[in-house]
Amino acid sequence: MRKVIYKQFGDANVLELTEQATPSFDKNQLLIRVKAVSINPLDWKVYGGEMKLMSGSTFPKSVGIDFSGIVEQTGSAVTRFKPGDAVIGLLDVFKGGALADYIAVKETDVALKPVNCSFEQAAALPVTGLSALQIIDQLATVGPNQDVLINGATGGVGVFAVHIAQKRGASVTAVVGPKGVAEAAKWGADTVIDYTKQDIRRIAQRFDAVIDLSTKLSFTDARKLMKPRAVFVSTLPSPLALVSSFINNLFSGKKHKILILKPTTDGLATLTRLADDGLQIVLDKTYPLTNVRDAYQEASQGKIIGKSVIVVD
Ligand SMILES: NC(=O)c1ccc[n+]([C@@H]2O[C@H](COP(=O)([O-])OP(=O)(O)OC[C@H]3O[C@@H](n4cnc5c(N)ncnc54)[C@H](OP(=O)(O)O)[C@@H]3O)[C@@H](O)[C@H]2O)c1
Repeated sequence: MRKVIYKQFGDANVLELTEQATPSFDKNQLLIRVKAVSINPLDWKVYGGEMKLMSGSTFPKSVGIDFSGIVEQTGSAVTRFKPGDAVIGLLDVFKGGALADYIAVKETDVALKPVNCSFEQAAALPVTGLSALQIIDQLATVGPNQDVLINGATGGVGVFAVHIAQKRGASVTAVVGPKGVAEAAKWGADTVIDYTKQDIRRIAQRFDAVIDLSTKLSFTDARKLMKPRAVFVSTLPSPLALVSSFINNLFSGKKHKILILKPTTDGLATLTRLADDGLQIVLDKTYPLTNVRDAYQEASQGKIIGKSVIVVD
């Protein structure tokens, strides 16, 4: 079978499409024929060597975290799935390996695929959908009538965060690039700000939650946009940020919380329900597996609306 690997850290040119043996699977795992895999910024941070502490430095390594596919075989202890089921799921974020014809995955890391979306759309759900759920429901605890600012609202996490925040009854201000202005308004954001035309650090409104998905807004800048007991959520869990947020949160009413994605079986099932209930899954481009380098090269330049996806089968 085909599998994408890399043998050194670097840019997208380190990615190689190779022939490998089909993986074996244990009694708690499913063997899945992969249909599509989504592209996440985490992928190039890992193969670029920025996450060595978590990923380790032994090679070869694999790429691709979240996927859609069809169950080919099940381990003897698997109870929730059978061969032929269409599923979504995710692998260890620092080890990856979904960019392959077949993968072995724990039953608990898989959910049934939403019915009313394509395999390409379904592959775009797990990492960014779980991140959006964790941010809106657990870190920012967004509720009715709250004012929420989402900086980077047309990216992978942003599209879902806008939708889920609105479902929780919040009023959403979406900060986007020029390409995303019409899109964010179409998805129902209450206010849309083009970050190339307006500096959000100077707007007068104050928010219950400020969510930065762009990695460009510091807590110092975000504080000025926050109501007295508001929450700022950022997405880069660097040791320095974790320590300074911990100290800040001991003394200040304005909290700084940092996303460290914790995938759960229930979270995946919630995503499937949300998608069956109308959650928008926005795809930018799709690529064949043979164009994996171009796919990552382009995606890492940004300006993607929603997600880009690699079609495996
Ligand atoms: N810690 C964790 O566990 C975890 C889990 C998942 C994701 N993440 C991180 O969370 C971040 C968001 O993920 P994602 O998948 O949504 O990434 P993404 O698709 O690349 O989205 C980032 C968004 O930020 C926007 N942006 C860029 N510059 C901006 C600026 N100056 N002001 C406002 N917006 C700006 C981009 O818009 P344009 O491209 O149009 O400029 C893009 O829409 C990434 O850094 C990812 O690595 C962390």
